[in-house]
Amino acid sequence: MANKFYITTPIYYVNASPHIGHSYTNIAADTLARHMRKSLGKDNVWFLTGTDEHGQKIQKAADESGLSPQQFVDKVVTQFKDLWQKLNISNDDFIRTTEKRHIQTVTRALEIAYAKGDIYQAQYEGWYCVPCENFCTETQVQVEDKTCPDCNRPIDKISETNYFFKLSNYQDWLIKHIESNPGFIRPQIRENEVLSFLKLNKLTDLCISRPKERLNWGIPLPFSPEHVTYVWFDALINYISAVGSFDNSGRYVSKWWDKDTQVVHLIGKDILRHHAVYWPIMLHALGIELPKEMVVFAHGWWMMGQDKMSKSRGNVVAPLDMADKYGIDTYRYFLLRDVPFGLDGNFSEESIIKRFNSDLANDLGNLVYRTLTMIEKYFQGQIPGLVALDEQGKNILASIKALPKESGDLLSLNFSFSLSLERIWNSIAMANKYVEETKPWNLAKENKIDELKSFIRLLVEVIRASGDEIDPFMPQTAVSIKEQFGKKEIKKGNPLFPRIDTKSKPNSRLPAGR
Ligand code: MSP
Repeated sequence: MANKFYITTPIYYVNASPHIGHSYTNIAADTLARHMRKSLGKDNVWFLTGTDEHGQKIQKAADESGLSPQQFVDKVVTQFKDLWQKLNISNDDFIRTTEKRHIQTVTRALEIAYAKGDIYQAQYEGWYCVPCENFCTETQVQVEDKTCPDCNRPIDKISETNYFFKLSNYQDWLIKHIESNPGFIRPQIRENEVLSFLKLNKLTDLCISRPKERLNWGIPLPFSPEHVTYVWFDALINYISAVGSFDNSGRYVSKWWDKDTQVVHLIGKDILRHHAVYWPIMLHALGIELPKEMVVFAHGWWMMGQDKMSKSRGNVVAPLDMADKYGIDTYRYFLLRDVPFGLDGNFSEESIIKRFNSDLANDLGNLVYRTLTMIEKYFQGQIPGLVALDEQGKNILASIKALPKESGDLLSLNFSFSLSLERIWNSIAMANKYVEETKPWNLAKENKIDELKSFIRLLVEVIRASGDEIDPFMPQTAVSIKEQFGKKEIKKGNPLFPRIDTKSKPNSRLPAGR
C-alpha cells in the first residue's frame, strides 16, 4: 500500500453553473480524502479540484454574456468555489487552467512532446462538433442529418492545418499497461470497454490545436503562433501542473506523483476515453511514470427520468437548493448511499425524503435520541461504564470492533460508498434491535443496574463507532454526535434528523441551520 494519497476530480467547464452531477464527484472525492486523512495522516493526502476555463464553449458563453472570456471565467468560478465551501468539500487546492502555473506546465509539456517528435503538423479535413469540441470521423457522423454521434447536435465541416499528437504510436504500450495493471481502470466494466475499444480500433492521432482565427481563447502553442492548444490536452495536464513542474532537463518532479503515492482520478463515465486513453499516453510520452497504484474510476450519471442531467438538456437541479432544503449532510448521504458508485441513478426528491426518514431519522437519529434520553432518565446524564455483556451484547461489540476495517476497506479498496454506509448501518440496526429486545425499562424496574449500565454503555459505543465512520461522509453529523456524547456525560441537543412529514412541505419541519 502506498503511503501517500492524491485524489482529483474533473475540472469543470465554467460555461454554466454547477449541478448535482458535478457535486456528486466532489462529494465522493471529499469523502475518500477525509477517510484517507484519518488513515494516512493529513500531510499525506492531497485533494485537488478546479475549473476548465479555455476552449470554444467558454468563449461562446462569454460572448453571449457580453463579457470578455477572462471576466466571464472570473465571475463563474466563484460559483464553484462557493458551492464546494458550502458542501464542506475539503479540497487542498483549486486549480484554474487560466493560472500561470498551469499555462507554464502545459507549454513545457508541448515543447517536450514536440521536441521528441510526438507532435506533428497536418491538414485536417472533416467534421467538427463545437459543443463537444470533438472531431468526428466520417464513420461516426450520423450522415443523414449531419449530427454529432455524442450529443446529436449539428456538426460543421471544416478544413484546416493543425497539430497532432501521436496517440497511435502508443496503442500497444497502453494495452499492455492496462492488462498488467488490473484495477487501473474501474469499475471492471469500464476496463473491459476500454480494452475492447483499443483492440478493435486503430487509434487515430489526437488533434491538439485549434487555429487562432477560429478560436483564440486558449494556451498558445509554443511552436506555432497561429494556433492555441485544444482544450482537452490543456485540461488533463491540470493533474500534474497543480502539484509539480518540469525541471530544466524536462523531468517532471512532484511530491504527489511518485511510486509512494496512490493517484486516484474520479471522473464521470462520459470522459472515460480522455482519462483512460489520452491521459496515460500523454504521461508516458512525456516520460512521466504512471504510479503503480494509479486508478481512474468512472462513476455513473444522475438521470432525470430517461435523460442524463445536463445543462444542454435543460433538466438540471441546483445542489444548493437541495442542501438548503434537506441539509448538507443529508444531501451528501443521499448521493453516496442511494446508488452504487459506478452505476447510473435516478434523481428525485421523493427518494431523498425516503432515505432521510428511514436511514437518518428512524435508524440513526432514533438510536441517538433514545440513548440520550435513557442516560438522562436512569443515570442523570452520566455515561455509565461497561460491566458485563450478554451474548447479544457481545455480538454487537464484535460488530463495532470490526466496523472501522470493514467499512474502511469498502471505501478505500472498493470505492463502494454505498456498501460502506450499509455496513455502518448494520451496526446501527443491531443496536436498535437490541433496545427493542432488551426492554431496558424492565431492567430498571427489576433493579438490574449492572445490566442496564452495560446495555446503555454499549449503545453509546455503537454510536461513537458509527459516528467515527460516518465522519468522512457526513462531517457535521459526526461533530454533533461527538458534542452530544462527551467523555463522561452527555449534552443533549436537538434531534439530529426530525422526520419529514411527507404531507406537509418538506422543509417546514427541518430545524434551523441545516
Ligand atoms: N472539463 C471537462 C473535464 C476535464 S477533466 C481534465 C468536463 N467538464 S464538465 O463540466 O462538462 O463535466 C465534468 C464532470 O461532471 C463529468 O465527467 C462528471 O464527472 C460530472 N457530470 C456531469 N453531468 C453528470 C451527471 N448528470 N451525473 C453525474 N456526473 C456527471 O467534462
